[in-house]
Amino acid sequence: MTKEIDGYVWDLPLGCVTETDIFTDKDVLLCPRMTIIDSAQMELLSHYKGKIHAVVSYTATEEETNQGDIEPDEDASIGFEDSFKHYAAETLEAIFTNISDVKSLTAGAREIGEQVYSVIDASKELFINLAKLKVSDEYTYKHSVDVGTMAAVLARKIGENSKFIHDITIAGLLHDVGKEKIPSAIINKPARLSPEEFEIIKTHPVHGYNILINSADVSEDMRQGILNHHENYDGTGYPRGLSADKIGKMGQILAIVDVYDALVTKRSYKTAKTPAQAIEIMFTMSNKFNLDYFKSFLSVINAYPNGSHVLLSDGEKAIVLRQNSAYPLRPIIKIESTGQVVNLASDAGYLSTVIVSSSE
Ligand SMILES: [Fe+2]
Repeated sequence: MTKEIDGYVWDLPLGCVTETDIFTDKDVLLCPRMTIIDSAQMELLSHYKGKIHAVVSYTATEEETNQGDIEPDEDASIGFEDSFKHYAAETLEAIFTNISDVKSLTAGAREIGEQVYSVIDASKELFINLAKLKVSDEYTYKHSVDVGTMAAVLARKIGENSKFIHDITIAGLLHDVGKEKIPSAIINKPARLSPEEFEIIKTHPVHGYNILINSADVSEDMRQGILNHHENYDGTGYPRGLSADKIGKMGQILAIVDVYDALVTKRSYKTAKTPAQAIEIMFTMSNKFNLDYFKSFLSVINAYPNGSHVLLSDGEKAIVLRQNSAYPLRPIIKIESTGQVVNLASDAGYLSTVIVSSSE
C-alpha cells in the first residue's frame, strides 16, 4: 500500500520504502526514491527539520500499525537469553574471584565478549533496553556485562570497526576488575561512602590496569580504556584528571555507559533511576562527556521501550508504539482514552507535552 505524506521526516513510518525522491524546501535532494527508511536512515534524515512531500509504500505490518488496529512494534532492543545471562554472570564471578590467573581472566572475558558481540552483530536495531540486559542481581557482574554490551552498541553506532567493537566489549567486561583489590567491606557498604573510603575506591582503575599489564590478550588501548573509565571530558575525573582527547576513545565511551548503568541500577543505598531520568541527569553533566558520543548514546537508549505505559504531562495515559531515534524521549504513542496515535516529536498539539513517568 502506498501513502502520500505532507509533513516532516519523522512522519515517515519506520520500515517504509520511498516511492518518490524527497526534496528539502530549497529543492535539494534529501533522499532518493527506493530508499528503505530504517532507524539509521531516519536519524540521518531527521537533521532536516523542514517540511517534506513524499510517497511511501508500507509493508502489511506497517499498514496495520497505522490504521487503527494498533499494537506496539515488537521490541527490537538488544537482549540476551536467560541461559546466557546465567552463564555470563557465573563465568565473570568465577574469573573475577581469581584475578591472579590473568590468562583465565582474559580468556573468560573474551569468550563472553564473543557472545555479546555476536548478539549485537546479529541485531539490526541498535536500541538498548536495560531490562533485557540484566544478567543477575550481583552488581559487579551484571554491571560488567551491561557496560561491555552498551559500549559495544555505542561503538557500533559511532561507526567503529569490528576489531574495536570486540576490544571494547572485553574492556567493558573487565573495566571494574580492579575492584577485586578493594576491601569488600567498602565495595559492599550498604550506605554512601565516606571521603576516605571514596579515595580508596578511586584506585580501582589503576588496580585494573596493573592486573592486566602483562596480559597478551589485552592491548594497551584496552588497558588505557579501563584505566580511564572514570575520567571526565572536562578534566574533573580520576585517577589522573585527564581531559578531552587525552582520555582516548575507549575511555570516553566506557565513561558514558558506566555512568548511565550506575544511574539505572538499584543499590542498597539508592533507588534506580528510570532510563529517562538517567538521561535527564546526564544532560546536566554533559560537559563531562565527549558530546558527539553522548549524542550517539542518546540515540540508542530506549528510554521508553515499545509497549511501555506512560503518563503524559497533560494527565493522559498512553502506550509506546515506536521509537523516534533522533528524539529518544519523544516516541510515537497511542493515547489510551481516545486511541489517538501521536508522534510526540512532531504532532503540533503535543510539542509541549512530555512523558512524566513510565512503567513497562
Ligand atoms: Fe569503575
